[in-house]
Amino acid sequence: MKVTICGGGNAAHVLVPVLKDAGVEAVNVYTPFRQEVEGWRRGAEAGGIRLFLGREGADERMLTGAPDVVTSDPKEAVDGADMVLMAVPAFAHEPILDAISPYLTRKTVVGAMPARGGLDYLLASKFSGADTPLFFGTQTLPWACRILEYGFSARVLGQKRSVGLATWPVDEAESVSALLYDLVGVKFTVVPSMLSLTLSNMGQLLHPGIMYGLFHGWDGAPYREPPLFYQGVDEETADMLQAMSDEVRMVGRKLEKLHGGSRSIPVPSLHEWLLSSYEGQIGDLSSLHGSLVTNAAYDGLRAPVTEKDGGFVPNFGARYLSEDVPFGLVVTRGIAEIAGVPTPTIDRVIEWASGKLGREYLVDGKLRGRDVPGTRAPQRWGINRPDDL
Ligand code: NAI
Repeated sequence: MKVTICGGGNAAHVLVPVLKDAGVEAVNVYTPFRQEVEGWRRGAEAGGIRLFLGREGADERMLTGAPDVVTSDPKEAVDGADMVLMAVPAFAHEPILDAISPYLTRKTVVGAMPARGGLDYLLASKFSGADTPLFFGTQTLPWACRILEYGFSARVLGQKRSVGLATWPVDEAESVSALLYDLVGVKFTVVPSMLSLTLSNMGQLLHPGIMYGLFHGWDGAPYREPPLFYQGVDEETADMLQAMSDEVRMVGRKLEKLHGGSRSIPVPSLHEWLLSSYEGQIGDLSSLHGSLVTNAAYDGLRAPVTEKDGGFVPNFGARYLSEDVPFGLVVTRGIAEIAGVPTPTIDRVIEWASGKLGREYLVDGKLRGRDVPGTRAPQRWGINRPDDL
């Protein structure tokens, strides 16, 4: 089997050794960035990625695996691949698909790990006809992971117990889920559609919601050390995350109702999702707040920052806003607008994040700002009726 990984970041550093360990004969890495290609090649010459699983100490294990080909040439990377995995932030899906689509065939299985929001609308705008590959998306990345040394080593900090998966078209999900289990050793639970994945994307709640909670009152003075991200969540922010989660679930329920109960659009609550994804890793299961601040997989993770004046200031350009707002929260907000569900808490976060990103999404409470075409909200493609979602 031949698998091509698109992207050279944290997720790719996990996938290469994991796939090699599973016995995949050829693992290629595609990244359009020359510096990344060089970094991967240097690492490959030295034996490949050393992947540490678990915390430093007693339960630590290590896998090693080197990519067979590392290239910025999409043809070289993808030609003949049985599976292509886009393990990148969602803003990279479109440029990657544009680069590789001439080399995909009806037999290629192409996945986005994770899908984030509105992947199906993007796919429908680019692919049609008999030669369309089978696409899948996952609800999140199965691992919390970080590169230690680029091209050489990485660490998995935590692994989710199960991750949602949907295919496009919808009817192949069971076989893809089984194949992925064999390849990466994670359970992928089939959800009915990519619409469910879009609404169940918890990164769109956690990342912009916690950024808002940590920094909406920030006075501009540098921090002495980067604030803790998940462990920095206070009760007030947890309540706000709960309200955001409730609003999204309302959208799912309203859409089910609009379809007269003929479609199931399950959306777990944020708390339910944490408990099922991180079973055995959470100390205080009793509340959303407790589950966030006592989750061992989140231990020590810091907010994105840059150095300034001998201290640290928030990095509002990091993917917690630049990915999770236009490719997450704004997509869900667009779907809510079509379903006719008010989302006051989500709107507050989008309005704040828009200011930080220098973007315009909401105008007079409607998703018609000048930057909507740069998102994956259904409105970008003129989708405005519940039936078309
Ligand atoms: P990353 O930030 O490490 O990956 C960035 C990589 O994407 C770059 O190194 C580059 O190779 C590629 N890329 C960026 N722009 C591109 C473009 N225009 N064309 C082609 N490639 C491009 O991201 P990471 O951490 O690997 O995450 C991947 C996805 O998984 C993201 O959606 C992230 O939100 C999600 N995720 C990550 C977790 C983690 O612990 N790392 C945990 C949960 C979700």
